[in-house]
Amino acid sequence: MKFSIKKGSPGKQRSACIVVGVFEARVLTEAAKILDKNTNGYISRILKNGDMEGKIGSTLLLHYAPNIICKRILLVGLGKKSKLHDKEYKNAVLAAFNALHATGTADTMFFLIDDPVKNREITWKISHVVIFAMESFYRFDRLKSKKETNKQHLQKIILSTTSQIDIATGNQALQWGLSTAHGINLTKDLGNLPSNICTPTYLAELAMTMAKNYKLKVTVLEQKDMKKLGMGSLLSVAQGSRQAAKLITLEYWGQSKSKKPFILVGKGVTFDTGGISLKPSAEMDEMKYDMCGAASVFGTLTAIAQMKLPINVVGIIPATENMPDGNATKPGDIVTSMSGQTIEILNTDAEGRLILCDALTYAERYEPEAVIDIATLTGACVIALGHVASGLLSNNDELATELLNASEQAIDRAWHLPLWDEYQEQLRSNFADMANIGGRSAGTITASCFLSRFTKKYRWAHLDIAGTAWESGKKKGATGRPVPLLTQFLTTCAAKKSP
Ligand code: BES
Ligand code: MN
Ligand code: ZN
Repeated sequence: MKFSIKKGSPGKQRSACIVVGVFEARVLTEAAKILDKNTNGYISRILKNGDMEGKIGSTLLLHYAPNIICKRILLVGLGKKSKLHDKEYKNAVLAAFNALHATGTADTMFFLIDDPVKNREITWKISHVVIFAMESFYRFDRLKSKKETNKQHLQKIILSTTSQIDIATGNQALQWGLSTAHGINLTKDLGNLPSNICTPTYLAELAMTMAKNYKLKVTVLEQKDMKKLGMGSLLSVAQGSRQAAKLITLEYWGQSKSKKPFILVGKGVTFDTGGISLKPSAEMDEMKYDMCGAASVFGTLTAIAQMKLPINVVGIIPATENMPDGNATKPGDIVTSMSGQTIEILNTDAEGRLILCDALTYAERYEPEAVIDIATLTGACVIALGHVASGLLSNNDELATELLNASEQAIDRAWHLPLWDEYQEQLRSNFADMANIGGRSAGTITASCFLSRFTKKYRWAHLDIAGTAWESGKKKGATGRPVPLLTQFLTTCAAKKSP
């Protein structure tokens, strides 16, 4: 796929398909108006026939319009001009690409970056059209013996504008979108890989390849190393598995090492059976996605390394399976975490927090600017927020606000849940410093309360992506979330901090 930016007028250039927008009630956008003029009113005549209203996400493909050298025109409904917000824009752009993929179009002049999205600059539109285009191209068919037949013809996307945009700035936005999309694609691929391929060892090897490709520093701790560090909590999850657990760190130093790094900690449970507290078998296959937090750390690091973002970021990934076994942890077992705090494991299915807590203690050695952990942590989060928003909990309101702002900008929603002390009581244990579960009520919050006991030394936020990391049903597949949010957050931080 080739993307480029070009200033020019629609209808003056050769292209397999020109894409222009139409607002509701058949109101032409600026580019559509010019094209209408160039074609002697061809577009307005067709709209008058009643073939298109301009409803958001609708499309109409026209062939061989008069007086122009383009084979096709794709009209894309943008809805009401006053209501063209981020989400609507995304719908319209995705509809446009899906319509293009249904044709034999090999190259397109895409004028939708000119249309007015509320409070968004053209650079935002350029970045996001690239991200949406890449989303429309995404397939995961590497494990099918025959590749899917609906071949995509589109090769060249020329983001076209009639406005006086600075091409260098435009190209920067384009590259930003492309790097983000590459990160999203890696995250999707890792999520979609089954657990017999995507093991902790596979993730460790991927980290080593990434380190080579992007000049990152990689460290892989083996179980014996973790034992020396006293990571009894993490190891208690791994002990039922034949797959060796790994603690992977990837360091990206994009600015002076004297600047404190941001740390991303990603839950990397490559398969979650629940352990001895075995999960019901329906849809258990989806627990291959229980490493999507880890995948989003790999994806975000890929994106920012490709961008050469001037910021320091360390990714920490505790990777393990959660399996039942003769040697597996049993309900009631008590373990000692790296922090020295003891944990009564009342439910072996609450394993995410058990691996994260040791990774969060390990993060202290970097004296971080802030730590963000990303985890498919609780089914309760799906009940609370569905598949729309990730749960956000933090010990620092400023950090939470910065993440929420990034999530808005990236169309990657998150919702702030409280982390009040009142909830901490639910973790009381008669036999250890804490229990690993807090009962049925407020499950997402009590899981965060558990983590908060290991994050006292730095600014910390937790993203529960149980509802947002993948889709179920016919469209089953990883979403790549929250890579857009994290990449935007780090980009904003880098812009603020760079000299
Ligand atoms: N990986 C799951 C959370 C999950 C479940 C994510 C379903 C997405 C869909 C996690 O390890 C888990 O099993 N959590 C338990 C915690 C409970 C035992 C306190 C849960 O949510 O049921
Ligand atoms: Mn579990
Ligand atoms: Zn899990």
